[in-house]
Amino acid sequence: MAKRFIVIGNWKMNKTQEQALEFARSLPPLIAPNYLAVPFTCLQLLCDLDIPMLKIGAQNVHPHQEGAFTGEISPPMVKSTGAQFVLVGHSERRHFFHESNEFVNKKIKACLLEDLVPVLCLGESAMDREEGHVEDVLKKQLFESLFEVESQSFSKLMIAYEPIWAIGTGKPATAQAVQEVHFLLRKLIREKWGSSAAEAIFILYGGSVTADTMKNLIKQPDIDGVLVGGASLKVETYSQIIHSVGGHS
Ligand code: PGA
Repeated sequence: MAKRFIVIGNWKMNKTQEQALEFARSLPPLIAPNYLAVPFTCLQLLCDLDIPMLKIGAQNVHPHQEGAFTGEISPPMVKSTGAQFVLVGHSERRHFFHESNEFVNKKIKACLLEDLVPVLCLGESAMDREEGHVEDVLKKQLFESLFEVESQSFSKLMIAYEPIWAIGTGKPATAQAVQEVHFLLRKLIREKWGSSAAEAIFILYGGSVTADTMKNLIKQPDIDGVLVGGASLKVETYSQIIHSVGGHS
């Protein structure tokens, strides 16, 4: 059986509706499921295009269903656009908007209730790594963000390991270093939530991924996909990455 491997693009705060349309129209035909996390303003537009094999998702969500939270978007609202997944706890949200593991945990549960696939983002800083705290930091993020999430839910969520020092820096972690971390994350999941949860979960890597880095990442047994920021903004670079995993003809 071919190795399962998925690609999620993360546009961050980029692209007007017009630019999003242009991107969508230039995409090559996809032959395997691919994912694109887009700004809220592009969700409906891209979902309505109904591009085969392209799943559209949001980059954030508020944990409440509705209420007095000016400027926020709830899981039912995201769901109503046709979106299928949500990035949760991206390091930029943790850093710029002070999101805690506890808040991330509420968002994950809210997504699961709405049948939206949460993609939990976590990762250590350069200082954590230099000081030898990678395992402690990731364990805390993992356990607190997934507090009281049931084992059965692990087939309906994903994890993206994104070391902060590799995001947007052009300096990706080596495939070997990523494999070590993913192995650790899967082990921690197995110990706490059981083998089925550990096998079901998709663990992705994110941080300066390009078509060049894909070859080695794909070979690693515990890397199930990639979360791609900068390189997902241009159709050419995004398609090259998809092509490297056999995602388009
Ligand atoms: P990058 O971003 O690929 O530009 O490093 C990844 C991310 O933040 O998801």
